[in-house]
Amino acid sequence: MTTTVYLNGDWLPLEQASISVMDRGFLFGDGVYEVIPVYAAEPFRMSQHLERLKRSLREIRINDFSPQGGWESLISELVARNRLRHCNVYLQVTRGVDRERDHRFPGKQTPTLFARVMPLPDESCQPSAEGIRVITYPDIRWKRCDIKATTLLANCLARQAAEEAGADEAIFIHDGYAIEGSASNVFIVSDGKLLTAPKSDKILGGVTRDLVLEIAEKYGIPCGEEVFTLGKMLLAEEVWVTSSTREIQPVKQVDDKVIGKGSTGPVWHRMIELYTQYKQRLLQGELK
Ligand code: PDD
Repeated sequence: MTTTVYLNGDWLPLEQASISVMDRGFLFGDGVYEVIPVYAAEPFRMSQHLERLKRSLREIRINDFSPQGGWESLISELVARNRLRHCNVYLQVTRGVDRERDHRFPGKQTPTLFARVMPLPDESCQPSAEGIRVITYPDIRWKRCDIKATTLLANCLARQAAEEAGADEAIFIHDGYAIEGSASNVFIVSDGKLLTAPKSDKILGGVTRDLVLEIAEKYGIPCGEEVFTLGKMLLAEEVWVTSSTREIQPVKQVDDKVIGKGSTGPVWHRMIELYTQYKQRLLQGELK
């Protein structure tokens, strides 16, 4: 079945969606995006994702932009038109089309809005206890990693390096600290305490990250927002990566170092149990 996408007010098959070569997203990577998981046709943590999208738009000075009818109705129509129960929704807004290639943006452009669904790789939606391998990679990104910008060249290079090393993700090392992944946040369990880097302009404040911290606090799992060095990560009992697409994934190896006993740890098991319960309750309409 062909995917139906939304582009600037039109609904059309993915293969027919195209934009101008003068779009600033194409010329400069001048845009932002969001990825929202949908389970049982319900967008997961939608308000948090939309808040972050609005913040990203504000930070790159695309002001007062939203689709006709609003973001929520766009997302539900997109999911309904594609008849998918579980998927990820991808939203991208660029600054729009220019007449000439010009770094300046005096504000005359109409933003380009593209939205599509991406099927989930695993229709069962069950988190896998199979740990992944990751590599470390120097953090060569810009200084506004808090903006979910489409300008992702450094992230692509890091992720490709992981692929070529037979690994699943790359962790950026920033001044000796393991700060976040190419498309995920990083957690460690060190001396029984769950740690992740605090929100700053050095990382993307992940929606999954926030939920993990929220659950840990609520259920008394010792946790904190602290940066940790690569050395500390290598000695940790557990390492996880989190994102909307990966959920909470255990890491069994970082570069050549096996983490803990090389299998999933007790804190991960507890967190997955609580996270799965939360997800079920949300999807049954108890929490919104
Ligand atoms: N990426 N850090 C970076 C650099 C990311 O790109 C992402 C998500 C995250 C986790 O954020 P969240 O939990 O809100 O998904 C952290 C998405 C999934 C992507 O680029 O496809």
